[in-house]
Amino acid sequence: MKTILVTGSNGLLGQKIIYSLLGRNDVRCISTAKGSNRMRVQEGYHYESLDITSKEQVDEVLGKWKPDVVINTAALTNVDACETRIDEAVSLNVTAVQHLVGACRVFNAHLVHLSTDFVFDGVSGPYTELDTPNPLSHYAETKWQGEQVVMNSGISWSILRTIIIYGVVDDNSRSNVVLWTYNALRNKQAITVINDQFRSPTLAEDLAEACITAGVRRAPGLFHVSGRETMCILDMVKIVAAFFKLDSSYIQPVSSAALNQPAKRPPVTGFIITKAERELDFRPRSFLQGLEEIKKQLILVGAL
Ligand SMILES: NC(=O)c1ccc[n+]([C@@H]2O[C@H](COP(=O)([O-])OP(=O)(O)OC[C@H]3O[C@@H](n4cnc5c(N)ncnc54)[C@H](OP(=O)(O)O)[C@@H]3O)[C@@H](O)[C@H]2O)c1
Repeated sequence: MKTILVTGSNGLLGQKIIYSLLGRNDVRCISTAKGSNRMRVQEGYHYESLDITSKEQVDEVLGKWKPDVVINTAALTNVDACETRIDEAVSLNVTAVQHLVGACRVFNAHLVHLSTDFVFDGVSGPYTELDTPNPLSHYAETKWQGEQVVMNSGISWSILRTIIIYGVVDDNSRSNVVLWTYNALRNKQAITVINDQFRSPTLAEDLAEACITAGVRRAPGLFHVSGRETMCILDMVKIVAAFFKLDSSYIQPVSSAALNQPAKRPPVTGFIITKAERELDFRPRSFLQGLEEIKKQLILVGAL
């Protein structure tokens, strides 16, 4: 039986990985997050409080469980916050990765690390794993530095870069493009939506499967893992509105220049995912299939 330890398990991806592991009897699942466990289901796995910016805590928790695989989903993911909270971004997205690498080396654990399409400048998407990063923001720069820590570590590793993850989170602590649109339009709130940035939305459940496969197979190297469809964020939001039969007149298009967010974003990303299809059996659902999955989950929790 393999032991898989997940960091940041209160987050969107972390939660989905834990739920997927719960269904497997060939894996011992160790869920870790900063502070208390906020998942709805609290049984069927072991929970440890773990702040990955503390080397002592990383060494202690990994030393206790000696995992075969560590999946690092924890990060400072608020792109604009990284512009001002630079030390925190470096601590979590770079230094903490060094702590994990060090502990994985001791236990010969395979590290699955998550990264982002934002490592690219968005001038010439869709991108393959061979394309050269050119980060435009502090978030992107720290994620790229974190990647290099893993790549140069000499341990066994996979890096999965992904794009706009969407899904239902247990404790509503996090929003994402689908939930944000759904909640705002249902409450008849106006939303301003970027009309000149293009991305490939990724269903959290699909990405979770790819992370687990990469870990169990100790699949070496870099993987681009996202949905197949690249679309304008404005169109993404309009599709969500139409799918849930919500009034799209509350959607107000805005250009990147007019919105002027603190962090610069790449205009067009999107990934070529053939390597993940071939080596991780990655078969992402279409955006509409993903929305069907979201709808089922919203019905289950009584939110639809
Ligand atoms: N979301 C996207 O659209 C997207 C796109 C591209 C790449 N990615 C990458 O994919 C990964 C997963 O993203 P996600 O959407 O699941 O992020 P998320 O929902 O923001 O989850 C990140 C988790 O990290 C936790 N965390 C923060 N500081 C920590 C610490 N010191 N020690 C341990 N955990 C800590 C957070 O805890 P709290 O909940 O307590 O704050 C949060 O639960 C990240 O590496 C991200 O960079 C995400």
